[in-house]
Amino acid sequence: MGPIKNVFVTRKIVENGLNILHDHQIQFDQYANDNGRNDLEIPKAELFLKAKKADALITMLSDKIDREFLQANSHLKLIANYAVGFNNIDLETCKELGITVTNTPDAVTKPTVEVTVGLILTILRKFPEAHQSVMLENFKGFDPQGFLGTSLYEKTVGIVGMGRIGSEVARILETAFHCKILYTSAKSTSTFGEKVTLNQLLAKSDIVTLHCPLNNETKHLINHQNIGRMKENSFLINTSRGEVIEQSALYEALSNKKIKAAALDVTTPEPLSKAHPLLSLDNVYILPHIGSASIEARLEMAKICALNIIDFNLGTKPRNTVV
Ligand code: GLV
Ligand code: GLV
Repeated sequence: MGPIKNVFVTRKIVENGLNILHDHQIQFDQYANDNGRNDLEIPKAELFLKAKKADALITMLSDKIDREFLQANSHLKLIANYAVGFNNIDLETCKELGITVTNTPDAVTKPTVEVTVGLILTILRKFPEAHQSVMLENFKGFDPQGFLGTSLYEKTVGIVGMGRIGSEVARILETAFHCKILYTSAKSTSTFGEKVTLNQLLAKSDIVTLHCPLNNETKHLINHQNIGRMKENSFLINTSRGEVIEQSALYEALSNKKIKAAALDVTTPEPLSKAHPLLSLDNVYILPHIGSASIEARLEMAKICALNIIDFNLGTKPRNTVV
């Protein structure tokens, strides 16, 4: 198998990170549509066309790299996903066709932890409502009874998925806010917190935060039955993937005030339509999938994609090989 010479990037990303490809005689081309706009998703037909001429792709989590696409592009040597999550890629087919898949695990940890802790404070302390009252000129001066939130200090936090992101959230909440940490994990055990069953975690946590990958085991993990196990007045945070939550169950729990509030960086689909029932609630706070959206992280993610491609050309196993 020859070296990778041409890389197609399915969206415009921070270019500085990719320049090292040129030092290794690898060309790259980034998607821009006819109007020169690069903030739009690449149409499927165009992705097929561009992939035909490339040896490798750098893909976004919004690109659906399914069996049909892979079979039509079995010449591809490598797909570097510009994300830690890889649920957008059919890994089984990649394995079957001998296409290497890589991801960007370490680069997204810190920014996603920041968004998680930020979301927790945002909904516990009612930042959105408080900000809104100022913007609407409803703030008439300090009110000792106004916007009384819930303190984060010493709360019990349940972490579902104790990988890189979950462990770092646990460390920060335990050391900075003296939280009691409970967690579930398919693999790892942690120096922080107590490993428990999901039922125990849901029954005891004041705040439940999701940090598991999306796969067959975790799809709709937070369903009707499991939301029903959560404490009254508890909070749910999701910075992993929208599909980990069964959204109709979440809507029901929030509208019936079974749980107090939810903060989501991810939904199904993205974006939600304007008429989506979740958007009619006043106890859900939603961000547009910005977990890894820091300047530092995006640069690092681009670099890591490039380094994985360079590893491949050097004949070593790419450092972040998924399959
Ligand atoms: C972001 O959602 C990622 O998977 O990197
Ligand atoms: C609040 O603003 C205080 O000074 O306690």
